[in-house]
Amino acid sequence: MHYFQYKGNELYAEDIPIADIVAAVGSPVFIYSQATFERHYKAFDEAFGQAPHTICYSVKANSNLAILKLIAGLGGGVDIVSGGELFRALEAGVDPKKIVYSGVGKRDDEIEYALRSDILMFNVESEQEIDRINEIAGQVGKKAGIALRVNPNVDPQTHPYITTGLKKAKFGITMEDAVAEYKRAAQMSNLEILGIDCHIGSQLTNVEPFVDSIKKLKELISQLGELGIELKYLDLGGGLGIQYDAEDPPLPADYGAAIQSETKDLGLHLIFEPGRNIAGNAGILAAKCLFTKERDDKHFIIIDAGMNDLARPALYGSFHGVQPVVKDQDGMVAADIVGPICETGDFLVKERQVPMFKQGDLMAFMSAGAYGFTMSSNYNSRPRAAEVLVNGNRFAVIRERETVEDLIRGESVPDWM
Ligand code: LLP
Repeated sequence: MHYFQYKGNELYAEDIPIADIVAAVGSPVFIYSQATFERHYKAFDEAFGQAPHTICYSVKANSNLAILKLIAGLGGGVDIVSGGELFRALEAGVDPKKIVYSGVGKRDDEIEYALRSDILMFNVESEQEIDRINEIAGQVGKKAGIALRVNPNVDPQTHPYITTGLKKAKFGITMEDAVAEYKRAAQMSNLEILGIDCHIGSQLTNVEPFVDSIKKLKELISQLGELGIELKYLDLGGGLGIQYDAEDPPLPADYGAAIQSETKDLGLHLIFEPGRNIAGNAGILAAKCLFTKERDDKHFIIIDAGMNDLARPALYGSFHGVQPVVKDQDGMVAADIVGPICETGDFLVKERQVPMFKQGDLMAFMSAGAYGFTMSSNYNSRPRAAEVLVNGNRFAVIRERETVEDLIRGESVPDWM
């Protein structure tokens, strides 16, 4: 459920016509609905009711400062995967004790930054990383809270590029190695073992893979208990899918019920790292039709947004619904909606029935709130789009459209030229 709805022929973000935002801010533009973010956050939170839990929103989905501030205001923490994400989270006022740090490749300076910031814990992804965190914590004079990210070898049945919980993926420590690594970590003087973590993939539309991985984790947890290694936190990662097209993902409440029935006797504090489930349907990308052209039996709709703005269709063949900002098109047409980038893979829609958009028409690509702006780039020297947050009948630009000057910021020509 989201708050991008038609009133008459016009598409609105909450109480504001999208067309008014584009008139003020230009196009392409990412538009987010605050009420939708809040609703999704609360639905997820309420799904775990009285069970001790923390929602550590996954920054990578949508990392705008205003969004992080909104999450912090709702009581959320964050899941980060880089020093840059840590910086954003701290700038937005996220409580460091609600920050978990995942990722297979943490640099020394990033580990140190996180230690000095007193984050809750590192989700450690390799044997060598355990040693490195222990060493750096010693140098900094801190104790590092850690969980081992275990790879439960469960197939999440999603796109291969966003499947992480299979043994052949680069993520986590295998089930076979985990006990030995916990034992090793327990001997290290600068580490405090706090929990166990897993994240098996993204855009999951079934609860079974989540439940299967919890079952595997529970075996490990009891083995650890026998060794006297007690945990406080069970971090189950993110991954709950959303509806882009015809998917039918479980509601947060169903996901919550399935997870709680598996975890209720463990006495552990649950951590979740949802990204897409909170942000995905809370944002759209608005763009404008520049030209149309016919070739043989193909109809192309050429717009001012491309794969540099919304990479998901080009990268994963992902589906994003497209809706007219004002419904005045003359029927439907089978078309490719393509961007200005010089690549054949630069499409947002491939061979689909869409409204017969004409020059100047505005359209909204739905479900672009997660992995939209954060994956955008300057390819073809295109300034990145603006981001706007809507709250009822007001809106604010939460990231200015980049300028051409921004494109060359930090570049210089050597003095021998
Ligand atoms: N935690 C960890 C450790 C992760 O790697 C991820 C996502 C999440 C949480 C959040 O997952 P979510 O709840 O959003 O599914 N760019 C891809 C998605 C990549 C997901 C990477 N990791 C896409 O556009 O579909």
